[in-house]
Amino acid sequence: MKRKKIIAGNWKMNKNFEDGLSLCSEIVNMVADEVRGEVEVVLIPPFVHIHAVSQLLKAKPHMATGAQNCHQAVSGAYTGEISAALLASAGTQYVIIGHSERRQYFGETEAILFEKLQAVLAQGMKPIYCVGELKEEREAGKHFEVIGRQLTDALKALTAEQMQQTVVAYEPVWAIGTGLTASPDQAQEVHVFIRKILSDLFGADIAQNTTIQYGGSVNPANASELFAKPDIDGGLVGGASLKSRDFVEIVKAMR
Ligand code: PGA
Repeated sequence: MKRKKIIAGNWKMNKNFEDGLSLCSEIVNMVADEVRGEVEVVLIPPFVHIHAVSQLLKAKPHMATGAQNCHQAVSGAYTGEISAALLASAGTQYVIIGHSERRQYFGETEAILFEKLQAVLAQGMKPIYCVGELKEEREAGKHFEVIGRQLTDALKALTAEQMQQTVVAYEPVWAIGTGLTASPDQAQEVHVFIRKILSDLFGADIAQNTTIQYGGSVNPANASELFAKPDIDGGLVGGASLKSRDFVEIVKAMR
């Protein structure tokens, strides 16, 4: 069984236009000989960079452009928002849906996230659906319950075909931007659990073929150990994706 491995760099609200394009070019030059086979490298800059980044990545095999969010409506009077259709027209191939920062600061619920997933899939793009527990939830031993609910509520109404286009990212909130990483065993345990939920919802084949990334303080020092786990199919990288050298080291760790 060959699941696609994906290393994605989520730049969040960082890098002005010029610096973002430099970062993209550096990564393209450094990564060229490193990606092959089933590995895909996805750069996820702020909206304003997307078209330019997608142009730089156009002819690069195994590289793709992503967005950090989108609005659920197709078009209309939603001042300041960006639809999935707009993203697709600018060259976007992946869209992060349900990042914990969106859930926490922008009140995104599973009901909204389901609509966003539909919007992304309807445009032929692939969602990266994020799940993960808060520190208090892990300490209270509620992480499986929380992650199970986040998965089931947002994904259960997808069709099997839609699920085949969807990537899942496990990002424990306590590990994001904190320098604390889930241990490889902790991450593997949750990834197995996620695959079990997907199997219950969509069947074993789809569950086995779904790419499940780990995110939360992934860096060049811990990436190899995390990626060596059988159910960890790549990383969603924040801070370390802003430095070309670190990001490329992480890409190299995915073998
Ligand atoms: P981090 O962010 O790598 O800086 O912890 C990961 C993410 O939020 O996707």
